[in-house]
Amino acid sequence: MISQMGGLDGLDDLYEAIILDHYHNPRNKKFIDNPDFDEEINNPFCGDELRIQAKFNDDKLEGISVSGRGCAISQASASLLAEYVEGKNVKEILNAVNIVRNMLKGEEISEKDRENIQDIDALSGVQKFPIRIKCALLGWTGFYDLINANLRSS
Ligand code: FES
Repeated sequence: MISQMGGLDGLDDLYEAIILDHYHNPRNKKFIDNPDFDEEINNPFCGDELRIQAKFNDDKLEGISVSGRGCAISQASASLLAEYVEGKNVKEILNAVNIVRNMLKGEEISEKDRENIQDIDALSGVQKFPIRIKCALLGWTGFYDLINANLRSS
């Protein structure tokens, strides 16, 4: 079952302009050639899903495609991920995932880290809605796990 956008009436903080823009105009959705990995992840509780393709040159991400179906938060957050990580190295990507994870858990984020994650800060409003945190993290933790499984095991 794929969830829709409904059920979030009144949660204006959640729908900052950046999030709506990414939901309606997802970045880096186009499939890439010869990815190093091409895998699907999903939220088992709702069935929302993402397909992530990634191509690295040494440890630098030179191509990524993220596409999927699901709620506005999961899809917009995945688009923010796809835009942010392109061109970054593995260490920078894993660091960003940790920052996003901590931010969504409501932990204190340094000014430097907040600047580092740029537009992704728009997701900070999600921390007020615990049920949506898994939505916002779907792509981030999924990509983290895929990197560890595909790049670090070799
Ligand atoms: Fe499934 Fe948001 S409702 S990821």
